[in-house]
Amino acid sequence: MGARGCLGPLLLLLPLPSAWAWLQPSIIGGHEAKPHSRPYMVSLQFGGVHACGAALLHRRWVLTAAHCLARGTLANGRVVVGLHSLRDRGAATQTFPIRAACPHPGYDRGTMENDLLLLQLEGTVTLGRTRRPIGLAGRGPAAGATCSLAGWGLRGRGGLSPTLQELEVKVMDPRMCNNSRFWDGGIAPTMICFQGQPRGSAPAKGDSGGPLVCGERAAVAGVMSFSGPDVTDPFKPPVATSTVRYKKWIQKTLRRGCKSPQPPETEHPFLFTQVGF
Ligand SMILES: *[C@@H]1O[C@H](CO)[C@@H](O)[C@H](O)[C@H]1NC(C)=O
Repeated sequence: MGARGCLGPLLLLLPLPSAWAWLQPSIIGGHEAKPHSRPYMVSLQFGGVHACGAALLHRRWVLTAAHCLARGTLANGRVVVGLHSLRDRGAATQTFPIRAACPHPGYDRGTMENDLLLLQLEGTVTLGRTRRPIGLAGRGPAAGATCSLAGWGLRGRGGLSPTLQELEVKVMDPRMCNNSRFWDGGIAPTMICFQGQPRGSAPAKGDSGGPLVCGERAAVAGVMSFSGPDVTDPFKPPVATSTVRYKKWIQKTLRRGCKSPQPPETEHPFLFTQVGF
């Protein structure tokens, strides 16, 4: 359990500018996605600054990570759909305030278990070629399966990626990922460990909440949750929350909303800081 001290949620919450020191270059080693080739990709922003990725599941709902929501930020939270370039939004984008935030009731920011959040939009997405929901995977990816991840996360000193980047990843054997050389017992059965392809590539800060997309018919199998302080450390591989085990909770919440549509209590003293990009 000693590894838990190293948990580094990958949302863009930077306590101090010096936090940049350990950040490696974005999605590191990925490449720019073909514009709008992932029409379900969403940018969750606070005060106009990208904080996390998310996936459009429905015209009024997106799925992201629970740790992406910090207290007091719901009012200035926005969901941007149809986005490719962060700076130059273009006609394809639609921006929505957040009507309700439904974190998974079992979210634990110590263990990072159940790190899922459903956000209900204030408004309805007009669907089209550049804005389209994605479905949930029916089963979890097997060890060795190839999946992909996309995001606007950090690319190193230059700050956030100006355009959507994507990365191929390989799912790791969960027992190996949980052993003492890797996450040392920190991997719950609801988590998926994976490695960037090629080696040395990895998601970075700001890529949290983005969907892990698997299968021939692209579907969400996970939500990017955390990695180690050095995001390219091969012994602290990135970890996603598997969505497969939460399908019922997701479907129920999309149908009926949640009982306490509040942001989860957090005591993080972090500030959202403007990133130069
Ligand atoms: C990882 O190890 C911990 C502690 O032994 C255990 O509780 C957990 O279920 C293990 N995870 C997996 C995926 O086997």
